[in-house]
Amino acid sequence: MLDTYKVVLIGESGVGKTCIINQFNDGKFDPNIKISISAQFCRKKIDLPNGESITMDIWDTVGQETFRSITQIFYTHAKVAVIVYDVTNKKSFEEAKNYWYKKIQELDDKDIIIAIVANKYDLYEKRQVSNEEGEAYAKSIKAIFGFTSAKNNTGIKTLFENIAMKIKQKKNNKSNETNINNINNEKISLINKKNNKIKCC
Ligand code: GTP
Repeated sequence: MLDTYKVVLIGESGVGKTCIINQFNDGKFDPNIKISISAQFCRKKIDLPNGESITMDIWDTVGQETFRSITQIFYTHAKVAVIVYDVTNKKSFEEAKNYWYKKIQELDDKDIIIAIVANKYDLYEKRQVSNEEGEAYAKSIKAIFGFTSAKNNTGIKTLFENIAMKIKQKKNNKSNETNINNINNEKISLINKKNNKIKCC
């Protein structure tokens, strides 16, 4: 059976979360899209370069401040938190750092994968957050970083592929750790058996 991973997009209202998901899911961009008033998800299978694949449930959440406590329910058990900001809106970047990242930090799961996404990259000339600023921040918190334009369909496929690869990498590391632990446990039990034998003789 295929594992399915929960990936949740969070961030301020209007940064483009719904448009990123719509573009990824059905290749469409609606400039007159309505504000989200409820969370919804789509299931996507992502093929990796090595021929493996990963299935993600990609959740869109409500960015409006009044719904923040409800939004929290959706990212609480996520495998990946994708924090989106709008490059033309400095405040959305500040909130990404000072609110959304902090809320993820407060979760019990310290193993959660974080991605920082600079959306509306097509509005390059109206930029209020420089590329370097976004990239440096992502690096400082060891997050995946991506530039996207939901309008032009730029960077979205790459973003989800990078997320899928990170999920796979973490999964492989975990199974290696489990194997090492199993080998160590076997060694310990062999040593214990040997010691018991020596005592008996
Ligand atoms: P909430 O539902 O309130 O949480 O907002 P959201 O983050 O889901 O934003 P949404 O996808 O509804 O997009 C908000 C507005 O930004 C819409 O008018 C979109 O058409 C526009 N928009 C989204 N992504 C882009 C983009 O990459 N480029 C441009 N130029 N506009 C975008």
